[in-house]
Amino acid sequence: MSEFQELNGVLHVEDISLEAIADRYQTPCYVYSKQAVVNHWQAFADALPQPHRAFYAVKANSNLAVLQVLAEQGAGFDVVSGGEIARVLRAGGQATDIVFSGVAKSEAEIRYALEVGIGQFNVESAAELQRISAIAAQMQCVARISLRVNPDVDAKTHPYIATGLEDNKFGIPMAEAVATYQQATVLPNLEIVGADCHIGSQLTETQPFLDALERMLALVDELASLDIHIRHIDMGGGLGVTYQNEQPPAVAEYIQALLQRLQAYPHIALFLEPGRAIVANAGVLLTRVEYLKSNGFKHFVMVDAGMNDLLRPSLYQAHHEIVNVRPGTAPTVTGDIVGPVCETGDFLGQQREIAAQAGDLLAVKSAGAYGFVMSSNYNSRPRPPEVLVSGSDSYLVRARETMDDVWRGETLVPKG
Ligand code: LLP
Repeated sequence: MSEFQELNGVLHVEDISLEAIADRYQTPCYVYSKQAVVNHWQAFADALPQPHRAFYAVKANSNLAVLQVLAEQGAGFDVVSGGEIARVLRAGGQATDIVFSGVAKSEAEIRYALEVGIGQFNVESAAELQRISAIAAQMQCVARISLRVNPDVDAKTHPYIATGLEDNKFGIPMAEAVATYQQATVLPNLEIVGADCHIGSQLTETQPFLDALERMLALVDELASLDIHIRHIDMGGGLGVTYQNEQPPAVAEYIQALLQRLQAYPHIALFLEPGRAIVANAGVLLTRVEYLKSNGFKHFVMVDAGMNDLLRPSLYQAHHEIVNVRPGTAPTVTGDIVGPVCETGDFLGQQREIAAQAGDLLAVKSAGAYGFVMSSNYNSRPRPPEVLVSGSDSYLVRARETMDDVWRGETLVPKG
């Protein structure tokens, strides 16, 4: 059951009306359901008995409270920067539960990861492998590594979020994988633990994952014949969610399909790195209608959230359902739902039919993943607050920015 339900004619999150949230925290405002995060996580945890394991992809939503909730559930974490490592630790996560992906890790990030003792690196190139080995040797410690290989499969998703094709910047080409593993066996201070891939995001079919797994298993077989033994295969994240009418496989179904193929490999654990599937449908962006405007042939619903708050519609032409929190009171308009940012591309939805008038509160749905984390201060707009709801309690887990936050670090120069 969704944690976002209409009750007495008003959309609620868990036991609180979104109107009450907007009154208390103003708009625009991100609102997350703790129960939804927990339920989505639990679906992965339940389908992945030991030694299999899921690592939440922090990039999808890195709010400290969200990470804390997941850490309390025993989650592992997939990070792509030193900053994300720091967040996981700050939220109470364990360094050993972290896998460090990321396409161009800096020396400082590698050093920091080794200092705090992360679980392992997913290595993206032969040059990075050498760098990790050299730093680990200097620090007199051992770096556990997986190589991220590029299985060259078509994830059939938006080109900006497909990552497993030959011409993407990600991973080590399959043709070079064995040689790179061989290099890893001779470089000092490395321990080979796994093999890793991530083919893309918002996948709505299981087959591309199975195709990628097949290629990973062929690699694992070849490595075994060279006496290089892999303990886990990390299939990355990528399971899609329903934004509009997509029908991605259920979590259990997708995991079962992968585990079934792995039955012939009882010594290999399956790792997954879900992001979107955990948080997308655990959050909404609340926004208020400022004006209705019409230029004769086109209608606009002008709201107080813009592309700086939620970039996905502008960047990927992504669809987010947008609903009136108290539906049925206003006349219906068909038009674009646009923000206050000075860009033609600043829209949250195009050609939508919605009953709305000035002052109404709208909820932009499925905004918990890649929402706040991709926000910016463009047009000097303070970023919105984030609120986590649990039952009938709400917590301000990130305050609305002030102008002092917006210009922090900037200085004036001497006059003249
Ligand atoms: N692991 C790796 C190595 C990744 O690169 C990603 C996402 C994930 C896991 C998590 O994927 P998920 O389960 O969330 O699909 N900003 C885009 C999505 C970019 C995804 C990048 N990598 C969007 O808003 O759709």
